[in-house]
Amino acid sequence: MSTWVVETSGLTRRFGALTAVDQLDLRVARGCIFGLLGPNGAGKTTLIRMLTTLLPPSGGQARVAGFDVVREAARVRQRIGYVPQMLSADPDLTGYENLLIFSKIYRVPATVRRKRIDEALSFMGIAAARDLLVRHYSGGMTRRLEIAQSLVNRPDLLFLDEPTVGLDPAARHAVWEHVQALWQQWQTTIFLTTHYMEEADALCQDVAFVYKGRMVKHGAPAALKAEAGEGATLDDVFIALTRIPMDADAPGAR
Ligand SMILES: Nc1ncnc2c1ncn2[C@@H]1O[C@H](COP(=O)(O)OP(=O)(O)OP(=O)(O)O)[C@@H](O)[C@H]1O
Ligand SMILES: [Mg+2]
Repeated sequence: MSTWVVETSGLTRRFGALTAVDQLDLRVARGCIFGLLGPNGAGKTTLIRMLTTLLPPSGGQARVAGFDVVREAARVRQRIGYVPQMLSADPDLTGYENLLIFSKIYRVPATVRRKRIDEALSFMGIAAARDLLVRHYSGGMTRRLEIAQSLVNRPDLLFLDEPTVGLDPAARHAVWEHVQALWQQWQTTIFLTTHYMEEADALCQDVAFVYKGRMVKHGAPAALKAEAGEGATLDDVFIALTRIPMDADAPGAR
């Protein structure tokens, strides 16, 4: 089994004249919590959509969980979970019903469906709200439900696109604690994006900064902070890496 759970080479996605992801080379190790960081519009969601087989690349290659995202898309899908940036749970169904739909989509065998759903709900700390309509959930509970939803097929690798956006600090911490527990107890590799640098610093062993679709820095948060100077935070690293004139078209100096 390869060390790399995500491996891209020259991965590119264009939307007309705009290159949203530009010749991206990225390797993410199996078993880590990886953070994809960068400003609005940097190409993070576009990259995740290609890695989760939802969007075909315009060029280059990507392997996820050992399979090619274009030629072996179905095999990739069997091994991953994906929580998109926008809220996606159905408010008119209960938590249980939302997970039931997912377990059917993911072809979880009928004999284990109920057990898997209850496990995922308990794991994310929302078992008590199992039969409540999602429209009555708080934002934090909805986010945890969406993560639970993505767990019913026991993914090796979970993509979380801004899982804590719009949540209050307590709800954010609850989400992160559950994500960390998931990583520790189920050994799920986590590939996340966030704009909260202190959370990326606390959670991720490995982070990559992207800017205008290109990779600008990749490494352990501690190493990147040390490189940025004594006492630097990951916020400082973010600002330094993205404080580039918006009309600069070549990232060579970064
Ligand atoms: N379907 C699309 N059609 C046209 N342009 C798109 C499409 N999807 C994304 N883009 C553009 O690609 C660029 C990258 O967008 P993307 O959503 O990947 O950024 P992001 O890093 O996820 O940003 P954010 O932090 O705001 O979520 C943006 O300029 C965006 O407008
Ligand atoms: Mg995004």
